[in-house]
Amino acid sequence: MKERLFNFNAGPAALPLAVLDEIQSQIVNFRGSGMSILEVSHRSKWFEEVLDDAIARVKRLLKLDDRFEVLFLQGGASLQFAMVPMNLALDGKPVDYVDTGTWSTKAIKEARIQKKDVRVIASSQDKEFTYIPREIAVTSGASYLHITSNNTIRGTQWKTFPETQGIPLVSDMSSDIFSRVLDPAPFGLIYAGAQKNAGPAGVTLVVIRKDMIERAPADLPTMLSYKTYAEKKSMFNTPPCFAIYVLQLVAKWLEETVGGIPAMEAVNARKAAMLYDYLDSQDFYRGTAEPGSRSMMNVTFRLPTPELEQQFIAEALDANLGGLKGHRSVGGCRASIYNAVPTEAVEALVVFMKDFVKKNG
Ligand SMILES: Cc1ncc(COP(=O)(O)O)c(C=O)c1O
Repeated sequence: MKERLFNFNAGPAALPLAVLDEIQSQIVNFRGSGMSILEVSHRSKWFEEVLDDAIARVKRLLKLDDRFEVLFLQGGASLQFAMVPMNLALDGKPVDYVDTGTWSTKAIKEARIQKKDVRVIASSQDKEFTYIPREIAVTSGASYLHITSNNTIRGTQWKTFPETQGIPLVSDMSSDIFSRVLDPAPFGLIYAGAQKNAGPAGVTLVVIRKDMIERAPADLPTMLSYKTYAEKKSMFNTPPCFAIYVLQLVAKWLEETVGGIPAMEAVNARKAAMLYDYLDSQDFYRGTAEPGSRSMMNVTFRLPTPELEQQFIAEALDANLGGLKGHRSVGGCRASIYNAVPTEAVEALVVFMKDFVKKNG
C-alpha cells in the first residue's frame, strides 16, 4: 500500500490524520452504541450530541453570538449560489456582487436566472481575475453584497472585507473558512462547502444572522428556505449525518489540538510565506496572483511551458506530493495548503521545487 501522500488537492482535500484515526477507531462501534455512526438514527441521542457539539464548536471558532444560527445543508456551495438570492433579495432592492472569478461568476449567474436586479459593482476580469478589486461602492439600499472571500481557482483572497455602510455582507468562504480570525459582525450570511477546510463533501455549512432568516419569502419550496433549517435545527429531513460528524471532529481538532483559529492562522501564514518567499526569490516559477491579493490557501503558479508543468506534476507525485495540477479551466499548478496540510508538506514541496529547477531550469 502506498504511504500517505502530502496532499495538495483543492477539494475534497486533506483531512487531519488524527481525525481519520478517530473515525477509524469509532467506525464499527460508535461510543459504545453497538452501531456505527453510519447506522444510528439521526434522531438518536448519539447523533444529536454530535450535531449539538458541531454547532457549539462552529460558534466558538467563528466567534458567533446569539444573533447567528449555524445550519447544515446539502447541495454544496453551488446550491447556495441560488438560495442566497432566493431567500435574501428584498423586493425592489438590488443585489450587489463582486466578480473575482469562476465561483463568483456562477453565483452572479444564479441570481440573474431568478431575474433579480443584479449589480456587479466591481470585477477583476480585466486582468484575468488575478487580483481583488479595491475601489468598491455598494449600491445604496442593496439587499446584500456578495463576495467570494477566497478564490480557489485563481489563488486570490480578500485580506480585509469591503465597507458596506451597514448592508449585509454575504460571503462564499468555501476555501478559507476556519483559516483565519474573522469578525462576523458585518456578515448577514456565510456559506462553505465543507470539503476543503471543514470536513468531507456532502455537507455545506451556513452561518446566518437571524434577521436575515426572516427575509425568506413564504412561498419558497420547503427545502430551499433557510427558515426550514433554522426552525428544525437542520433536521427537517435526514441530514448528512456522517459528513456532519466528520466536520465536528475537524472543529474539535481545531479547538483542542491546534489551539483555535488564531493559532491556525499563524501556521497558515508561515506555510504560505514559505511558498511565496520562494516564488519571489527566483524566476523559473511565476506566481499568478498579484502579491497584494495572494491567497493563504491556494498558491497558484506557472512554469515556463505547459510541458514542464506536466512533468513537474508527474514527478512531484512520484515524490509523494499529490494534487498539484491547477484547475482545468486555467491550467498551471496549484498547491492548496488548507488547515490540515502540515508544515512538513510545504517544506517538502519547496525542496522538490528547488530540485526540479536544478534539473530543468
Ligand atoms: C470558492 C468556491 N465556491 C464554490 C465551490 C463549489 O462548491 P460545491 O462543489 O460544494 O458546490 C467551490 C469548489 O471548489 C469553491 O472553491
